[in-house]
Amino acid sequence: MLVDAEQPPNTQWFGGKLTPCSVRPALLVDAKQPPNTQWFGGKLTPCSISPALLVDAKQPPNTQWFGGKLTPCSVRPALLVDAEQPPNTQWFGGKMIQSLPQLASLTRGDGSPEVPLSIQSPTTRPTTAPAKPDSTAGFKIWINGTLFDKQDAKVSVYDHGLLYGDGVFEGLRSYGGKVFRLDRHLERLWNSAKAILLEIPITRAEMAKAIDETLKANGLDDGYIRLIVTRGAGTLGLDPNRTSNPQVIIITDYIAVYPEELYSAGLEIITSSSLRNHPAALSPRIKSLNYLNNILAKIEATQAGCLEALMLNHKGEVAECTADNIFLIKEGVLLTPPTDAGILEGITREAVIELARSSGYEVREVALTRHDVYIADEVFLTGTAVEVIAVVKIDSRKIGNGSPGPITRELKEKFHAFARK
Ligand SMILES: Cc1ncc(COP(=O)(O)O)c(C=O)c1O
Repeated sequence: MLVDAEQPPNTQWFGGKLTPCSVRPALLVDAKQPPNTQWFGGKLTPCSISPALLVDAKQPPNTQWFGGKLTPCSVRPALLVDAEQPPNTQWFGGKMIQSLPQLASLTRGDGSPEVPLSIQSPTTRPTTAPAKPDSTAGFKIWINGTLFDKQDAKVSVYDHGLLYGDGVFEGLRSYGGKVFRLDRHLERLWNSAKAILLEIPITRAEMAKAIDETLKANGLDDGYIRLIVTRGAGTLGLDPNRTSNPQVIIITDYIAVYPEELYSAGLEIITSSSLRNHPAALSPRIKSLNYLNNILAKIEATQAGCLEALMLNHKGEVAECTADNIFLIKEGVLLTPPTDAGILEGITREAVIELARSSGYEVREVALTRHDVYIADEVFLTGTAVEVIAVVKIDSRKIGNGSPGPITRELKEKFHAFARK
């Protein structure tokens, strides 16, 4: 409809429906669109190169349109709109990676990677083939004490982890062969399991040994580790008492964080209309296999051309992003939502609070509103996969001067060094 003569003028396609806007988006592909402008947030805004270049034969090869300018990349993003682009692939981190059919723009697992790298609209081609040979094809996956080849690592279709999202998980990271804050991750996993009355059939020491074994089997010193414990196979009914054998799974992978340009430029995010779980329904402190409302928030972000979404709690206060915690900085003080705002108690969040305090900054865990985010001097996110990354725009409002602020940069560097110590 965006380019359809019947689309009412001054409307835009947003969040699954047509909404009013001040300039017709068709202008984006219209010869009358002023050069060096882009369609963003319902209006034309200046930019240094016309996005039209994205589909323009004159765009230099191996460049992409990102953050208002052309940046180098290893594969030409024009492939995104090119019939030759392999099905179910997306442009991420300078290369084509596999994607969901309906999103083809970003995906990043829990804290794991995802990203669209342009303001092009996502492709919706329903396809299946991966972009490239899978570099982890030879990897081993640990399941209940055995290392399986990736293609043989399977669980039952009757597993309640699949049928109902009944289970818990963790995302960890290894730096130089050492897992960052392993004890804290294991404690959170065991606490999550306890809260859903799921008994993990191995000890923490056995889990730690199995992680080490899996990393070694895959030759990974620096990597991402996913721990999953499912309720196990049962009947089609909900009753967990009719399941047996929880499945303990360890997947290790290369760590795919945001591209370096994003760490220098900062992220643009939106506030999602999907709320974080109500703590009286399912506590966000439980890292359960059920992330559906975070996924809805992620989809909303993607549709808005952003990589992350801020989620509010049932009181309308700031909670966290879909897979990261959030910090604001106002007049030199760090502000972050407290646990009772309905957040996952992030392990990176905890480490950053310690680092900030030991660097002489005051850190307050206080209830925050969207307004506090809008008027913050700096905003950043923390998570195992992303570490520390600045947010420079939210809901079309620039944060500070629109680039990562000095305290964010300092803490980002300190955390980077600390995690690798
Ligand atoms: C909802 C949510 N919030 C925050 C985080 C960040 O937590 P951590 O720093 O422990 O990775 C995650 C990471 O998985 C998450 O899923």
